[in-house]
Order: sequence, then structure tokens, then C-alpha cells
Amino acid sequence: MKHEILEKNIGWMIAFMLIAISFGTLVELVPLMLQRQSSEPAEGLEPLAALPLEGRDIYIREGCNNCHSQMIRTLRSETERYGQYSMANELVYNHPHLWGSKRTGPDLARVGGRYSDDWHRLHFYNPRDVVPESNMPSYPWLFENTLDGQYTAKKMQALRAVGVPYSDEQIATASDEVKGKYEIDALIAYIQQLGLLFPRS
Ligand code: HEC
Repeated sequence: MKHEILEKNIGWMIAFMLIAISFGTLVELVPLMLQRQSSEPAEGLEPLAALPLEGRDIYIREGCNNCHSQMIRTLRSETERYGQYSMANELVYNHPHLWGSKRTGPDLARVGGRYSDDWHRLHFYNPRDVVPESNMPSYPWLFENTLDGQYTAKKMQALRAVGVPYSDEQIATASDEVKGKYEIDALIAYIQQLGLLFPRS
């Protein structure tokens, strides 16, 4: 009846619950941290170039991740529809990650190369022009706003500080690469490279 002592004493109960939960957490987390497979970049993985990097920030600014996930689960229904399930080692340069938790629209983890740039232009200008039943918002301002590149180099430096291997040269030319470009071109550049390391079959 030693268990009864615990059950009748809330202080001890809380203490032992904390121990049990901490132990469970450690057992799940520590092996993941030590596993090279989940912390080393996949072969061929490159940091985002300047234009898609700006596109990624537009994706975040416009809240695309509220309707789209970028995380294909290991379920068959997902891999049949979206392709190879998402791998930790293709996402190690993602800061912050954009896995998302809600799918009003389809998963975008491997949407790169699925449509032409022209299709995306039409779709972002007014989704209903290409998918009549779509409830995705229109983004006409992306076709008017241009990038000034003021912070592109700083963003790369910040990412380098957390382990994304940008070269000095990439950082030096970043601003000129994006200056004057339309936001829509940055967003499409970002979308078109999503998941290309493991293309859909
Ligand atoms: C209100 C929810 C919502 C928001 C916000 C949203 N989308 Fe969508 N998106 C959808 C839905 C629903 C579809 C499916 C119908 C369609 O193709 O338009 C879709 C389709 C897409 C597709 C085509 C995917 C495929 O495999 O066919 C892309 C690419 C896309 N969205 C990108 C974006 C981007 C980038 C943003 C942010 C600028 C965004 N979406 C914002 C709901 C949303």
C-alpha cells in the first residue's frame, strides 16, 4: 500500500508526477538530439538564396502558414498525395520552421515545380481565376510592392549565427540581388524550391 501514501499526499504526488513526466521527456528528446540523421543537413541541402529568402518572409508576413502546412506525415494517404514524407534533415536550415498545424489548403512541403511560375502568378493574383471553388485570398499588392533589400544581408547574418552556412560573398551580394524586385517574384522563387530535394514522383 505504499502507493496509497502517494495518492493521499498531494505534495509527493506532484513531485513524483514531475519526475515521471521529465523522465518521459528526456527519453523522447535526448536520442533525437544525438541522432545525426535529424541534425545534419541532407546531402545537397543549400541555404536559401537572397530572393527566395525574402519570399519566405513574405510567406510569413501574409500568414500563408495559417492555412498551409509544410509537413508531410508518414501516413500513406499523405505520401500518396504529397510525395515523400518530410525529413528532419531537409529542414535543418528552417528558422523558424513553418510546419503549420492547420490545412485549409493543401500541404506545400513539396509543391516546388508542380506548377509553372505563370500559374502561380495567376493564382496569387486571384485564386478563383484558376481554381473556381478556391477560398484562398487574393494577393494583388504583391504585384505592386518591390523589395529594397535593406535587411536581406542582416537576415542572412542572423541565420548564420544559428548555423545556416551562408558565405561572406552571399551576404555581400544579397541586397543587390533583391533590390527593385517585385514581392511576387520573391514569393514564387520561394514556393518553387519547396521540397525539391525529394521531388514528387
Ligand atoms: C484562407 C486560407 C488560405 C490562405 C491564407 C492561403 N491559402 Fe493557399 N490555398 C488555400 C486553398 C483552400 C487552396 C486550394 C485551392 C486553390 O488551389 O486555390 C490553396 C492552394 C494553394 C496553392 C496550390 C497548392 C497545390 O498543391 O495545388 C499554393 C501554392 C498556395 N495555396 C500558396 C499560398 C501562399 C504562398 C499563401 C500566402 C501568400 C497562401 N496560399 C495563403 C487556402 C489558403
